[in-house]
Parts: sequence; C-alpha cells; structure tokens
Amino acid sequence: MKSSLFSDNKVADLISKVRPSILLQTLNQWIHIISLSLWIGGIIFFLFVFSPAAQSLPPRPGMDVLNRGRHNFQTLSWIAISLMLITGTFNFVLRGVATGFALGPGYYLILGTKLFLFLAMILHHCFQAFKYAPRIASLSAPTEPHNSNWPEDLLSQWRGWLVLLKINAALGPIVLLLGIGLTKT
Ligand code: HEM
Repeated sequence: MKSSLFSDNKVADLISKVRPSILLQTLNQWIHIISLSLWIGGIIFFLFVFSPAAQSLPPRPGMDVLNRGRHNFQTLSWIAISLMLITGTFNFVLRGVATGFALGPGYYLILGTKLFLFLAMILHHCFQAFKYAPRIASLSAPTEPHNSNWPEDLLSQWRGWLVLLKINAALGPIVLLLGIGLTKT
C-alpha cells in the first residue's frame, strides 16, 4: 500500500501549491543556463577540440571542415546569444518585480559589469561573423587553387577569428561567475 506521504491527493495538492511564477522562473533560469552552456561550451570545444583536429587534416579537407564548423558554431552562437538576452532580461524583471527593484547597489554593480562584458563578447562575435567570416568563406571556397598548403591570407583571417574566440573563452567564465554572484546578492 502506497504511504500516505505520496498519496495522489498529496502530490496533486503539492503541485497545485507551486505558483506558476516559480515554474516560469525555474524554466527561464534553466533556459538561461542551457544557452550559456551552449555558447561557452561551444567556444571551448571549437578552440581545444575541433580546430586542432581540423588543422591536422591535409589542407583542402582541413579548410572545408574548419570553415563548415565555423559556420555551424556561429549559427549556434547567435541562437544562444538571443536566448540569453531574452532569459536574462526576464530573470531581471522577475527578480525586480518580486523585490520592487530594490536590489541594492551591489546587485546593479554586478549586473552592470556582467552586461558590459557580455556586450564585449557580442562585439567580438560580430567581428568574427561580419569581418573575418566572409573572407574565410571566400578564401576557403573549393574553386580557390590551393591544395598543398594553407595560403597565408586565409591563415591570417583565421588567426584574427581565433584570437577573438580566445578572448571570449576568457571572458565567458567571468560573466558566468558574475551571474552566480547575482543570485547570491
Ligand atoms: C555569456 C552570457 C551570460 C552568462 C554566462 C550568464 C550566466 C548566468 C548564471 C550562471 C546565472 C545564475 C543562474 C542561476 O543560478 O539561477 C545567471 C543569472 C542571471 N543572469 Fe545571466 N548570464 C549571461 C547573460 C545574461 C544577460 C545578457 C543578462 C541580462 C540581459 C543576464 C541577466 C541575468 C540575471 C538577471 C540573472 C538572475 C540573477 C537573479 O537571481 O536575480 N545574464 N546568469
């Protein structure tokens, strides 16, 4: 016989007591954490796993694989960035409404620093996507007649793209820490 603690009525009673706002807040924080894991995890995977592996291939397939990986990574990043902006704003509004936005100078200082670093990360991503990526894509095109080695102009574009990725790999964990700091403030 089921113990009285987990009787259907009790469970139904418990669920009915969970305020929709808590479910919403939890779902929003969950999507916030999933999207930051996608972006920061994607940055670290690209830098330490994917790029070295692609660069160990012969030049022609290496260029194609790295270029295709870059394209998919950038698409994933834009999705994650959009989700973080939406869920982050919602995080702030939910917390603000719950406290009448009396969150104290410490909270606003941490949030301000976090948003400044997040915007810097987005700026780097924009340079990657709009300054370097078009050149990388055109220089990696199969029509380009280089099979025996990586051409210098393509390598210099990739260096620019990867330097920005490395800066974002350093900033991501700091923004993450500031996010945790917000929940403790
Ligand atoms: C790389 C980008 C970001 C990272 C790594 C990040 C990370 C985090 C983490 C780890 C938390 C704590 C989650 C929890 O324990 O519930 C958090 C909470 C939060 N984040 Fe972000 N976040 C990012 C972007 C943003 C953006 C763009 C905004 C605002 C538009 C934002 C606003 C918030 C707020 C308001 C909270 C909740 C704090 C509270 O409990 O009041 N975040 N973030």
